[in-house]
Amino acid sequence: MENYKVKLAKELANIITDITEEEIEELIEVPTNKEMGDFAFPCFRFAKILKKAPPLIASELKEKIKKPDFIEKIENVNAYINFYLDKTTLAKDILDIVLAQKEHYGLAQTHDKGNITIDYSSPNIAKPFHVGHLRSTVIGNSLYRIFEAIGYNCIGINHLGDWGTQFGKLIVAYKKYSTKEAVEQKGIQELLRIYVKFHDEAKNDPALEDLARENFKKMEQGDEEALALWKWFKDISLKEFERVYKILDISFDSFNGEAFYNDKMDKVIQELDNKNLTTISEGAKIVELENMSPCLITKKDGSTLYATRDITAALYRKNTYDFKKNIYVTALAQNLHFAQLFTVIEKMGYSWAKDLVHVPFGMVSMETGSISTRSGNVLLLEDILNEAINKTKEIIEEKNPTLENKEQVAQEVGIGAIIFDDMYNSIIKDIQFSWEKVLNFDGETGPYVQYTYARANSVLRKSGINIDDIKDIDINLIIDEQSINLIKQIGLFSETINEAAEKYEPSIIARYAVNIAKCFNKFYHDNSILVDDNELKKARLALVISTMYTIKNALWLLGIKSPKQM
Ligand code: ARG
Repeated sequence: MENYKVKLAKELANIITDITEEEIEELIEVPTNKEMGDFAFPCFRFAKILKKAPPLIASELKEKIKKPDFIEKIENVNAYINFYLDKTTLAKDILDIVLAQKEHYGLAQTHDKGNITIDYSSPNIAKPFHVGHLRSTVIGNSLYRIFEAIGYNCIGINHLGDWGTQFGKLIVAYKKYSTKEAVEQKGIQELLRIYVKFHDEAKNDPALEDLARENFKKMEQGDEEALALWKWFKDISLKEFERVYKILDISFDSFNGEAFYNDKMDKVIQELDNKNLTTISEGAKIVELENMSPCLITKKDGSTLYATRDITAALYRKNTYDFKKNIYVTALAQNLHFAQLFTVIEKMGYSWAKDLVHVPFGMVSMETGSISTRSGNVLLLEDILNEAINKTKEIIEEKNPTLENKEQVAQEVGIGAIIFDDMYNSIIKDIQFSWEKVLNFDGETGPYVQYTYARANSVLRKSGINIDDIKDIDINLIIDEQSINLIKQIGLFSETINEAAEKYEPSIIARYAVNIAKCFNKFYHDNSILVDDNELKKARLALVISTMYTIKNALWLLGIKSPKQM
């Protein structure tokens, strides 16, 4: 639709000379009320220059406009001039593109706009993967696809939390409270248990903390025994994380986590020193920042911190990928950390500090009693995902017991429901998780959109017509109100993706997917598709398949599959 706005601005520039074509384009509005046309041009702006009342200006201006072909009618209401697009032109323009691009509709085929690194998921080793990390994982994955769709080459980085004082604690805890067998058998659950126990014990025995620091120090100095234990904990954790990524069907281009920067930090600390950015405060090395608490670089004992590794990682990523943007997807709680990180990079004199982006998201809370967990108190992501799949299976069993590949469909729908729920609202908002809301096939949910796709596919299947034969459509057969509404929505796909990228906001795609589904269902309700008239059937089927391409790609951008039947 954006291109019509540009064309309209060009037309208006012929008769309006007080402002530039770009300014005209900026002024053109898209009325929320469809009755007011597709575009509206407000004339308030000219009152001062022309010394006339805006409604009069609008009516005089309207008379001067020579109606271009892509406009059906022009009306003047108060201080506005309303433009109605010509339905046939619009429908033809949009369907021509969709039917030519087919399954690629909306998605860039080349990725030559440059690199974007996206740091997402990034769970901490030896801790369970929780719902917060799920949000980071699915939002990051969606941003990855959104930026690829507009022509960037993305690099997905899992910045594993696999380094830091906590591993010193874990080594001490393991030696004191656990055994090889217990860790091998129970995995992360056991590591979590002893980690919690360490904290309980350390309250009464501060010497434990010293011991932990010593052990982390050993790791940083390359002590073999400490590193072997660390690596073992890491392997166990990764195996569990991989299971979750597999269920979600999400992958990464790099697993360079915090430990990867261990041997790269000295140089960076040196650089900070050389640039006179560091000071010593109570034995610790810090970078003082204006309007913010200082950024800690090393502790009293010389060991490094989360921020030290992130500064190093940012430099490494710039050198390795020469990114256009480097995006971090984490909970809102890390705002200060990223503000500090970005400011330090700026103070180091790197102009690309402006290309560092933090995309923060809100918290997920669970309705009490909505989920059972293995451990009793921590919510395990894997349990939630499996429960989603099981609950979906029950629904399918009830609604469509003869469905083929029930298992796979239940997985795609159950997981899709959770992912969709995570991104349906602006991501900065907290979400309250509820099974009823998430798995509602009639609400504004993932299953509702998937169901619409399956319904469209079923019509297509029943028609017995081959997709490739749906061409040379008589556009005039599909310019009724519901068809045109649907076509307009479909035509908005590219600009919707652009907007989602610009705002780092997958929810824009999620809302769009629901809109398309709603428009399709209205169209489907008002129009029989499998009619005897072959030309009419073909024209309506063209809309059915255009809807399918659009929904499938919109869901794909969110990381959600589109089962053909459900
Ligand atoms: N591991 C961190 C956490 O779980 C998230 C890391 C985010 N990425 C980064 N480069 N700091 O909170």
